[in-house]
Amino acid sequence: MRMRKKKNGEARFAACSEYVISSREELERYSDRLPCELEIGCGKGGFICQMAALHPETFFIAVELSTDALITALEYAKEQEIPNLRFMNLNANLLPEIFHKGEVSQSYLNFSDPWPKARHAKRRLTYRSFLEKYREMLPEDGKIIFKTDNRLLFDFSLEEFDAVGMRKTDITYDLHNSEYNEGNVMTEYEKNFSEKGFPIHRVVAWMK
Ligand SMILES: C[S@@+](CC[C@H](N)C(=O)[O-])C[C@H]1O[C@@H](n2cnc3c(N)ncnc32)[C@H](O)[C@@H]1O
Repeated sequence: MRMRKKKNGEARFAACSEYVISSREELERYSDRLPCELEIGCGKGGFICQMAALHPETFFIAVELSTDALITALEYAKEQEIPNLRFMNLNANLLPEIFHKGEVSQSYLNFSDPWPKARHAKRRLTYRSFLEKYREMLPEDGKIIFKTDNRLLFDFSLEEFDAVGMRKTDITYDLHNSEYNEGNVMTEYEKNFSEKGFPIHRVVAWMK
């Protein structure tokens, strides 16, 4: 997601600091609320803010690399006073340094950047080395719920799940016209692509 640099970004980020977790030590303050559900690459946070409001009994954490995208999410969560949601501004490849095994019950990957060039395949958040990192924090029966409009990324991801021995269920190439759509919470990208007529693909991938 390319974003224009936000004005006063540092100050705006700092003003939302009670919604940010930036280290293992800070996560430990929430140990009585773990395991959490984790969104990786939350963008402006529309999905995770809705999920947290719909499921007040669950603790959610969302990770985002782009500080500018995250500021939008942080300011909304703060304005809405969402109590069961926190954010991390970091690269997903650092997640095992923060979370221990079983501290994440399930993960969401929504409309991850497709990185279409083959030489960039390792940057895709469903590349096998990322999946192995997610395995370090999910329980043995943990799962990843993956949605995208991008057929090439979807097919690549299905192969990557196989390559690391994950089990796939609930596969659909047209989520919004499928039996799995009930209770679906749309992301910003999902709204945008589905309004343009693109079908949404979704899979649940289990650690075993
Ligand atoms: C295409 S956007 C989708 C945003 C949102 N999930 C949605 O569906 O509307 C992908 C997001 O993933 C983030 N991202 C990409 N690589 C990442 C990484 N290695 N770690 C954390 N976030 C990452 C990008 O900064 C971007 O905000």
